[in-house]
Amino acid sequence: MAKVRFTETALRDAHQSLLATRMRTRDMIPIAEEMDKVGYFSVEAWGGATFDTCIRYLNEDPWERLRQLKSEFNKTPIQMLLRGQNLVGYKHYPDDIVTKFVEKSYENGVDIFRVFDALNDIRNMEKAIKVAKDQGAHVQGTISYTISPVHTLDDFVDLAKNLEALDCDSVAIKDMAGLITPTAAYDLVSALKEETDLLVDLHCHCTSGMTPISYYAACQAGVDILDTAISPLAWGTSQPPTESMVAALQGTEFDTGLDLKLLAHIKKYFDDIKEKYLGILDPISESIDADVLLYQIPGGMLSNLISQLKEQNALDRYNDVLEEMPRVRKDMGYPPLVTPTSQIVGIQSVMNVLGGERYKTVSNEVKEYMKGMYGKPPAPVNAEIASKIIGDDEVITCRPADLLEPEFDKFKSEGEEKGFVKSDEDALTYALYPPIAPKFLKGEAEEEELKPARIFDEDDAIGIPTQYNVEVDGDVYEVKIMPTGFMEIEETQGGAFKPVEGGITSSMQGMVIKLNVNVGDKVTAGSTICVIEAMKMENDIQSEVDGVVEEIFVEPGDAVSAGDTLMVIK
Ligand code: CO
Repeated sequence: MAKVRFTETALRDAHQSLLATRMRTRDMIPIAEEMDKVGYFSVEAWGGATFDTCIRYLNEDPWERLRQLKSEFNKTPIQMLLRGQNLVGYKHYPDDIVTKFVEKSYENGVDIFRVFDALNDIRNMEKAIKVAKDQGAHVQGTISYTISPVHTLDDFVDLAKNLEALDCDSVAIKDMAGLITPTAAYDLVSALKEETDLLVDLHCHCTSGMTPISYYAACQAGVDILDTAISPLAWGTSQPPTESMVAALQGTEFDTGLDLKLLAHIKKYFDDIKEKYLGILDPISESIDADVLLYQIPGGMLSNLISQLKEQNALDRYNDVLEEMPRVRKDMGYPPLVTPTSQIVGIQSVMNVLGGERYKTVSNEVKEYMKGMYGKPPAPVNAEIASKIIGDDEVITCRPADLLEPEFDKFKSEGEEKGFVKSDEDALTYALYPPIAPKFLKGEAEEEELKPARIFDEDDAIGIPTQYNVEVDGDVYEVKIMPTGFMEIEETQGGAFKPVEGGITSSMQGMVIKLNVNVGDKVTAGSTICVIEAMKMENDIQSEVDGVVEEIFVEPGDAVSAGDTLMVIK
């Protein structure tokens, strides 16, 4: 009897996709006991972007969240999403950090590890899989699903066989943008069931609108597990609604046996949660966007892209960026678009559009990617663009993490000396996020305020009022509110303002993470003067002139806006 089981994503993927991963632990705990009664295969509740968001925006310890959830979920396995050698970050970590992270994740409460690699390069998954298996966890290997001129069903089946050879318990088809058609889902699930003994899980986002049909086709092909989200946090860039899928399968051979009344109770709770976070919910990410069939933008990426373009005051370039993305993806050898490749491709596309010239500004991540440091791309990269980006630098073909020296002890002792690392978990937090972790670990971080819900009216599609009529002593003034950036200005004799001469400005909103020069240093045009982390990518800022550093206005840790003067070079 082909009973289908569900993984509930409300506590991880659903809010990552719709609410920019901002749900607080205190909003999860009150409903956990009820959720534990449902009988899900698992609750996905940790990993992915939740770790980063906890320390960056919520002033929450992600390890503490895991422990609290574990104390509530007694029957239901807690599942995490692990980005292979990238763990919950955006770059490869050395094996000793991977080992420690997986051990501590298991110890603090993760029962099921879903392990993926953005390039489907199994060398980037094998360490995490092995350590998780050694702990006694259920390990779910993952196929990052995509469509491209170079991806075939046979490749995906081969990957699953290799995952089975590494002793995985199940395999997930991870369809980040809901690209899998019903026929493709039927064929792939059938092939995986035939060619392996693994449990098969289909994880799709609804972005394209096809997903519920594909889920049913997967049931007919013998899928074991489907990923769904409780209805207030479903649809759009999130998963199909749990209750609807339960009802659709009732009375069939795929009947989940889940109780709709209990789910209705849980749904009511999440209605209120959604109301509370309405200011973060972007209508674009909640609706069906058939454009993904052309552009292949995964769930979480779309809402991130929108908020990043807003931060850069460039939401009007949204469509240009969407069109640039498939071109960048092709240049990079058709990587599946999932963290970190989705960010790398997405942000490079933003830079290519906003910079006015393709690959004029290139993030360090793109440079590393072109050098093979993320693994083997599905197809060769565009050689001309690669040479523009990395010149004659060597391209590696080995397992990337083989080149990384152990780092855990270094981070641990350094953090202990500075007094903010008090446990192995703290040391891991520091090792994963060196620029932002110290502030959090020292207790100096503050919880971001919840944005108020937007006010909607007919004239304002985005909904935030930017124009007001203000009455002062009976006179009515029209006031426009515009975002401003700090800019060094000096008064000229005429009373007008002009930018500082020789000022190097930031072209993006972000955080200064490194200064490469001091006052008095000689620099040449093209040399890197500082590194800014923007949109989670590191970007080298180069001097456009030869000269001497006269004044520096920023230091590591400072937040900067587009247009801010970083330093003066004359
Ligand atoms: Co997902």
